[in-house]
Amino acid sequence: MRNQYSRIINPLIVFLCLVAGSSCAGEPPEVPRSADGTADSVLMVGRQIWSRACSSCHAPDGAGGRGPSVHFVEDRYPSIDDQLNLVSKGRGSMPGFGGRYTNEELEAVVRYTREVL
Ligand code: HEC
Repeated sequence: MRNQYSRIINPLIVFLCLVAGSSCAGEPPEVPRSADGTADSVLMVGRQIWSRACSSCHAPDGAGGRGPSVHFVEDRYPSIDDQLNLVSKGRGSMPGFGGRYTNEELEAVVRYTREVL
């Protein structure tokens, strides 16, 4: 009996994780708050975009999945403009987001990957 069920349930769980993406692995890390309790509003916007548009491939915490890890991404793109260019235009199976988000929004999500993840 157990085997019959797991033959159906296990692929179902895998399927739901693929579809649900981030909800299986949790929420992206919060933006750190300063001593007075406020958080950088640009980074908060970046976190939202990351959660909606990026975490399904790069994992909520940025550790990678279908796309590579973005941890220490600032070391690979010392100039933020190079990283903005990549996210805007895309590369290989990484889609470009230039048509979907404004420059300010792209900068917010790129800053989130550099400063929070
Ligand atoms: C459909 C899956 C997918 C989505 C969605 C996605 N990426 Fe990617 N990303 C990739 C893949 C695959 C690569 C590797 C591209 C290559 O072939 O070089 C990549 C590469 C990157 C890199 C370069 C990493 C490095 O070390 O060179 C960054 C930065 C990045 N993505 C940021 C983002 C951001 C920000 C978003 C959301 C706005 C996003 N990605 C959404 C799949 C994705």
